[in-house]
Amino acid sequence: MNLSELIAKMRVIFGDNKVDVDEVRRAMESYKSNPADWRHFAQFDPNKYTRNLVDTGNGKYNLMLLCWGPSMASAIHDHTDAHCFVKILDGALVETKYEWPKGDGEKLQVKERTIYDTDGVSYMSDTLGLHRMENTSHTQGAVSLHLYIPPYTTCNAFDERTGHKTACTVTFYTKYGCKVDYNKSKEGTCSGQELKEITTSFCYATPSPSDSDTDSEPMSEAVSTV
Ligand code: SIN
Repeated sequence: MNLSELIAKMRVIFGDNKVDVDEVRRAMESYKSNPADWRHFAQFDPNKYTRNLVDTGNGKYNLMLLCWGPSMASAIHDHTDAHCFVKILDGALVETKYEWPKGDGEKLQVKERTIYDTDGVSYMSDTLGLHRMENTSHTQGAVSLHLYIPPYTTCNAFDERTGHKTACTVTFYTKYGCKVDYNKSKEGTCSGQELKEITTSFCYATPSPSDSDTDSEPMSEAVSTV
């Protein structure tokens, strides 16, 4: 199975509104990472991890590549009632899961810490608590494939020492391989030429109206704890 076939499978799985966590996990696991499939989408930034949109599943989900430079990490965050699957495509990431804050001003309690190597798949949702992902390597980058069902554009980031939360918006560095410019519009614009190339020759990605729901601050910038 290649990435295009995985996306085609996701489109079938999410043809209705049910989410079978085990079925989705099995599909994510059955794809074996091949950089030739996803290299177009893997765009790094030297200062922050990047979110690169690959497919929206007709508005049912957001599938994206996240590119992590050495020592980069996400903030501790919730998932706005979405299901979150993460598959490692290159390198390794450490996931730390936390309990929801118990009392005002109290340090967050760690539930578990797991290392995921290439092809490992993790699952997270608000019923399991909060989490963050970290590339703990000081020298190597990492690439991960994230699936959020349904797509969301805002979430909360949490301070580990106090449990205090901050609302944040999530944005894309690229969509379908094309750099998004948030200076011209709140929704972000990108070049049609690259979009067409990726859409027709690389995967089944097609823009949907939900793509324009993003705000101008990527989560990695708004709540960076790197
Ligand atoms: C994660 O830590 O799961 C990634 C957060 C994001 O989608 O930006």
